[in-house]
Amino acid sequence: MDQLIEHLRFFKELGVDGISRDAAWRRRDGDRSRSDPAGGATPADPEVPAPLEATAVPVTVARSVAEALTAIRDDIGDCTRCKLHTQGRQQVVFGVGSPEADIMFVGEAPGADEDTQGVPFVGRAGQLLTKMIEGMGFRRDEVYIANVIKCRPPGNRNPERDEIATCQPFLFRQIEVIQPKVIVALGTFAAQTLLESDAPISKLRGQLYQYRGTTLIPTFHPSFLLRSPGYKREAWEDLKRALGVLGRRIPASPQSSPAS
Ligand code: URA
Repeated sequence: MDQLIEHLRFFKELGVDGISRDAAWRRRDGDRSRSDPAGGATPADPEVPAPLEATAVPVTVARSVAEALTAIRDDIGDCTRCKLHTQGRQQVVFGVGSPEADIMFVGEAPGADEDTQGVPFVGRAGQLLTKMIEGMGFRRDEVYIANVIKCRPPGNRNPERDEIATCQPFLFRQIEVIQPKVIVALGTFAAQTLLESDAPISKLRGQLYQYRGTTLIPTFHPSFLLRSPGYKREAWEDLKRALGVLGRRIPASPQSSPAS
């Protein structure tokens, strides 16, 4: 039921204002339902109602990506879905940047500075992330930045399993509407959440993953790089992989790379 609600909400954000269970809407030329990946080769049994997902036909798609993001933000509201709202957080930190971004950076959770300003990655780690983004040849406002968890865990402790489970659907919806070409997962929590893996970032990084129609590239979290600058070189290799996927020129200058 949760998945169904999430699915319908997603279409609503895209501007769909109705669905139909009318069988005449069900199959269109070239349609491939998920239950029939061969593309409709199996005849439909008239006795068996098609799953609702296959009948959810968009009626109109009117909203812009920016409007869809606003709808997600409005849906989060002043969130009380998990215990973090009782543990000292000041505000929800949603996401920042271009709704049209080709590249999206996903971190873990807001820290103290982000909690105060309501913007992800504005503290020390954020300054390094901004340098990394600029080193890649982007302005910060050309990319999109978000976190798995939208509220600050007290004392910057690690996000807990129930908090991730509650909050991750909002990140998935941000990804669905922005549809970046590349997602850079910053650190263990982002990479593990997106890849549904328990492996450490050191094992996950160094390769590309196909993920929800985009390419996902795990790399070290900027906070880790501040503590362990020796790993910046590997992080820069990951960022160059992202540029390669985007078909962008790879800056050669070490001054503009996070390895500097
Ligand atoms: N670390 C994160 O993972 N996200 C932020 O927004 C800030 C620091």
